[in-house]
Amino acid sequence: MNDFPAFTFSTVAHIVCELGAAGRLGEHIAQGFPTARRALLVTDPGFLKTGLVDAPAASLQRAGIQVTIYSNVVADPPEQTVLDAVTAARQHGTDIVIGLGGGSSMDVAKLIAVLAGGDQQIGAIYGIGNVKGDRLPLVQIPTTAGTGSEVTNIAIVTTGATTKMGVVAPQLYADMALLDAELTLGLPPAVTAATGIDAMVHAIEAYTSRHKKNPLSDILARKALGLLSANLIAACEDGRNLAARQAMLLGAMLAGQAFSNAPVAAVHALAYPIGGTFHVPHGLSNSLVLPHVLRFNLPAAAGLYAELAEIVVPEVSGSEEARAEALVVAMQQIATITGIQRTLQQVGIKETDLDQLADDAMLQTRLLGNNPRTVTRDDARAIYAAAL
Ligand SMILES: NC(=O)c1ccc[n+]([C@@H]2O[C@H](COP(=O)([O-])OP(=O)(O)OC[C@H]3O[C@@H](n4cnc5c(N)ncnc54)[C@H](O)[C@@H]3O)[C@@H](O)[C@H]2O)c1
Ligand SMILES: [Fe+2]
Repeated sequence: MNDFPAFTFSTVAHIVCELGAAGRLGEHIAQGFPTARRALLVTDPGFLKTGLVDAPAASLQRAGIQVTIYSNVVADPPEQTVLDAVTAARQHGTDIVIGLGGGSSMDVAKLIAVLAGGDQQIGAIYGIGNVKGDRLPLVQIPTTAGTGSEVTNIAIVTTGATTKMGVVAPQLYADMALLDAELTLGLPPAVTAATGIDAMVHAIEAYTSRHKKNPLSDILARKALGLLSANLIAACEDGRNLAARQAMLLGAMLAGQAFSNAPVAAVHALAYPIGGTFHVPHGLSNSLVLPHVLRFNLPAAAGLYAELAEIVVPEVSGSEEARAEALVVAMQQIATITGIQRTLQQVGIKETDLDQLADDAMLQTRLLGNNPRTVTRDDARAIYAAAL
């Protein structure tokens, strides 16, 4: 007898997890995509400034592949950024797209691969399953250990002053993901912390996802949480700790594989309006509401949180409720130790903003539907008030 429901599971077929692999990018591409001749490397100005684009670009050239660097991606990419990037890809006759950056650059790379090779307009692909046909070959190389976008089938675009839209389609799974911690060595501690907590949230929310929780996502979420909780503080305290950095990258990717198949819920639903309206980075927005959503979920999710507490706080003991509470406390402690902002007020949000935030959060119906406990508008308002 099965004691779990039927499920489907998809992920990226080829994964390279190897220190120094970015410097050998040309070899990996030549092997995996022997006909590729003109690559578009998609990144943002901040990452470009680190100089870390040079080695992978040189390695591509050594492999006989022409490289164009597109470095105009901005955080939480607006639609126009995507359209400009698609134009650049077409002008250069791009035949392989390589995302090299955080979630913003990788999301733009996904959309270039879909739009540059086809004739769909961007407006036609928002939503679930609206991408038609093939895309250009796509390789993803994360430089933050956070979103897991290198292995997810989602791209998020800022469509208005404060609104975001998602594209969810199987074509957004890359052909290859390459994890090399050398690219993340210069990531500032606060960004390391916020993006790492985002990855932990992916694991926690996948593990408690109401509709699509499945055994494969569970295994991945548990392993992800173990790696992330054991290495996040070390990576923040010593950014040059390569072992901790590589463990973080692996943990973030495993969490991405988990939540791509067992989707995230109320933490993300309540975080999006904070990011959209107040331009707070994605990971920090999640971190600000996380403990308060976890506490709200306790009546419905204490059993699963208790299981995760045993991973994050191995010495935990006591009743199910006590262990679940230990997970909440541990997540709060991680945020405290890293020194990132802890309250909505610290990012400029006032009491008078909470009604609008609650209204906006209720629009995230797809995410709220995955939450282990039903969230009403009053609940959302109360969670924001607790986070203030
Ligand atoms: N597709 C998905 O599955 C998914 C999931 C969650 C979030 N997202 C999206 O991803 C975006 C957030 O991505 P993110 O948190 O990775 O941040 P990001 O890509 O927006 O980058 C944040 C900042 O970090 C800098 N940076 C990145 N790597 C660096 C490095 N190695 N060294 C120094 N600086 C570096 C960048 O220059 C940038 O200023 C949002 O748009 C969010 O909506 C996507
Ligand atoms: Fe996230």
